[in-house]
Amino acid sequence: MRIDILTILPKLLEGPFNDSIMKRAQEKGLAEIHLHNIRDYSTHRQKSVDDYQYGGGAGMVMTIQPIADCIEKLQSERKYDEIIYMTPDGEVLDQGICNQMSSLKNIIIISGHYKGVDQRIRDIFVSKEISIGSYVLSGGELAAAVLTDAIVRLIPGVLNDETSALTDSFQDNLLAPPVYTRPEDYKGYKVPEILLSGNLPKIEEWRHEQSLKRTQEKRPDLLQGD
Ligand code: ADE
Repeated sequence: MRIDILTILPKLLEGPFNDSIMKRAQEKGLAEIHLHNIRDYSTHRQKSVDDYQYGGGAGMVMTIQPIADCIEKLQSERKYDEIIYMTPDGEVLDQGICNQMSSLKNIIIISGHYKGVDQRIRDIFVSKEISIGSYVLSGGELAAAVLTDAIVRLIPGVLNDETSALTDSFQDNLLAPPVYTRPEDYKGYKVPEILLSGNLPKIEEWRHEQSLKRTQEKRPDLLQGD
């Protein structure tokens, strides 16, 4: 899978993709992540990427030209399945969206800044608008990093043990059960007996019950299919 991210702050995104699972996914050739500095595409003499908004009001708006030119250059090189704009007014990201997107071949992610991008970028190019939650970040970069991480880890072969993505929270609309490792007894706080029993069917049954209980307590909305 190839992911092209358009940003005015590429440095902010170098860290999250150069470590751990995201780094390994790229080294294994399972994911290609390309960062594009929107400013490099500006034809303005001072390389500016924003301007005052028509109609007045506080806050600058990202201009069409550098973003459009960057997208058009990428589109001339390959076909894109989705052009995604990260925005607090988009569809709220969930595991279902990540699952669907992890099977795509090429996507572009645009991270916005200031008051956002000129609406015409959204109208002309964007096929999907995604929010990572009902709060406002100072830019779309961290949201783009969240989306990329959540998608890339689902690409087959990225995680060492492929089943581990299948047992993540949310994969069955259930939260994951509690997990334990050594020691068996920490200051009197013991690992549940069942996990030491070696009885795999019983352990699976227990885990499922715990998932249901946790979901009922913490996220009952998931059980109603909301
Ligand atoms: N940009 C700023 N806030 C955001 C959010 N919550 N989700 C996606 N992009 C954003």
